[in-house]
Amino acid sequence: MTLDTTSYKIPVARSAADLREAVAAWRKEGLSIALVPTMGALHEGHLSLVDLARTKADRVVVSIFVNPTQFAPNEDFSAYPRTEAADAARLEGKADLIFAPDAADMYPEGFSTTISLSGVTEPLEGAFRPTHFAGVATVVAKLILRAMPDIAIFGEKDWQQLMVIRRMVADLDIPVEFLGGPIMREADGLAMSSRNAYLSPEERKAAGQLNVILRETAVSVAKGMPISEATAEGSKRILAVGFDKLDYLEIRDAASLAAFPDNKPAGPARILVAAKIGRTRLIDNMPV
Ligand code: PAF
Repeated sequence: MTLDTTSYKIPVARSAADLREAVAAWRKEGLSIALVPTMGALHEGHLSLVDLARTKADRVVVSIFVNPTQFAPNEDFSAYPRTEAADAARLEGKADLIFAPDAADMYPEGFSTTISLSGVTEPLEGAFRPTHFAGVATVVAKLILRAMPDIAIFGEKDWQQLMVIRRMVADLDIPVEFLGGPIMREADGLAMSSRNAYLSPEERKAAGQLNVILRETAVSVAKGMPISEATAEGSKRILAVGFDKLDYLEIRDAASLAAFPDNKPAGPARILVAAKIGRTRLIDNMPV
């Protein structure tokens, strides 16, 4: 086994073979394993998922891979923060192994397979980022098949991603327990995100209003306001507080993400938003 044990205090596997060998050794000891897939630039939100993983399994693997296939050519793949040493330091005492493959290991010459889902991938993020979820589903399937964990944990901040992965795991009979961890928020309620680092001080102040408007819109609908009326009002407010572009503000079925034809929730509902401020696109969601 050629784990990198010298760069950081936590060992790093950089290839599928090294990861599998580490996991096999744990399996031999009868230990259970949790996987927390990330793209690095770890913040308290990620660390809360790692802490949750720790309560569910004997060993915790955190993958750090900025997955090129989930970024469209006009998106921030090259600018996405890559902070491996800081990430490793933040994981000390929390994770047992970092899996940090490079793109050539994940997508070797000739790689030709894509997992694409219909339905749940189509609205919301799927309408604005049509290739995004195929990239996510494919990389997550690969990460799970490489680590073969007992449990895989994802954040609720990417709610649609969570529903997409849940669907894929069920459809493909992937033998893993699947769990979502709650959104962690800054003091003003802004959902923690690696992309918050892009915000200027002025943008950061306006960004803090997004969750407030989201919550108030959800409350209006819970109190009986028709969905279209509440979201139209919320949309105006998002632009008024300083966002430059609203991609969507919608209330959808929490699991299928289908729209409610009667303009009012008929079952568990979720409010979801994506809006751009300066060069930063933020997403957030909460239950209605
Ligand atoms: O949520 C993320 O950070 C990524 O989409 C994931 C799940 C690690 C796949 O690249």
